[in-house]
Amino acid sequence: MQAVVLVGGEGTRLRPLTLETPKPMIPVMNMPFLERTLRRLKEAGIEDVILPAGYLPEAITSHFGDGSSLGLRVRYVIEETPLGTAGALKNVADFITGPFFVLNGDVLTSLDLRAMLAAHREKGGLGTLHLIRVDDPSAFGCVVHDPDGRISAFVEKPERDKAPTNEVNAGTYLLEREVLDAIPAGRPVSIERETFPQLIAAGRPLYGYTTDDYWIDLGKPEAYLGAHRNVFDGVMPLGLTPDIDGPGRESVPTTAIRPPVFIGNGCAVDSSAVIGPYTVLGDGCSVGAGAVVADSLLWDRVTVDAGARVDAAIVASRARIGAGARIAHGSVIGHDAVIEPGTHVEENARIVAVD
Ligand code: GDD
Ligand code: MG
Repeated sequence: MQAVVLVGGEGTRLRPLTLETPKPMIPVMNMPFLERTLRRLKEAGIEDVILPAGYLPEAITSHFGDGSSLGLRVRYVIEETPLGTAGALKNVADFITGPFFVLNGDVLTSLDLRAMLAAHREKGGLGTLHLIRVDDPSAFGCVVHDPDGRISAFVEKPERDKAPTNEVNAGTYLLEREVLDAIPAGRPVSIERETFPQLIAAGRPLYGYTTDDYWIDLGKPEAYLGAHRNVFDGVMPLGLTPDIDGPGRESVPTTAIRPPVFIGNGCAVDSSAVIGPYTVLGDGCSVGAGAVVADSLLWDRVTVDAGARVDAAIVASRARIGAGARIAHGSVIGHDAVIEPGTHVEENARIVAVD
């Protein structure tokens, strides 16, 4: 069995995090998200993986190489210009030998891929799409189907009051190789806006596979933060130790910990600091006396100086929060950014390093 994981998007909605780190490589509990996805594929017995990339591809290729460290065969196809979600598949057609999974590279889910494969075989259609029910379908692809699952309409990102259903495309497909014949070569093609609607209009059998699994698209800062909260709460099972986890958990003074937290390697935390709840420290972070970091994600080598306060924020690698500075809810601090001592960064700010 083969899988194509789409990892070529620019991750615009996650900027400035994605200015240096491509979206699939952003860490979830300190592990690049794509590594979690590849491990999940391996567990499901899928060992041949193709990665159509294009945006900051070296960050991906240098981390996974040929995939052998994960027990996988991983191959990359780099797009000079983005080919879209179907164009990217057409571009790797030579590697595809039979039915294959397609995964959007930014979806965290507990979906059982083997069960989905069984459902696909049972229906015998051209493709099976994992569907999930959401409150607001307007940010997703709406999928209408009959009681047997047969899909009659696919409407990408409808206006909220025009959405035909709250069942949406969850970004995992199982496709027969023939689907590739329906995709034109040599130009960008969207599977959501072009290929699926055309197949449906031509009467080709596509089926929805609706589950109530945990599911989230990590493509926006609030979703990325929220996903961590869900993992801490055990809503999304990632096998964490409750309360205090991470390789560096022994090295942080217990007086500083407000569970749940996840602590990376080599962190230096003052005993009068407060870490948590719902907080992740990447490797090599340092947090000074009296500083507070709550509901936040710090990537590797972040420094929070004495008396600073970070609330419900995301701080990318090597950034420095100066003494007494305040980072308000929803803010995203980019790689290497320096927040001067005493500065107040307002809610939902996006801060990029100045050269
Ligand atoms: N190789 C390649 N080339 N990959 C791409 C390209 C491209 O040109 N464009 C997007 N991708 C990848 C992204 O990296 C991501 O992993 C995936 O395709 C989906 O792109 P997003 O930009 O994240 O799309 P979305 O979240 O707005 O919508 C999609 O996902 C929803 C579920 O999360 C659609 O598939 C919706 O229908 C769906 O509901
Ligand atoms: Mg997305």
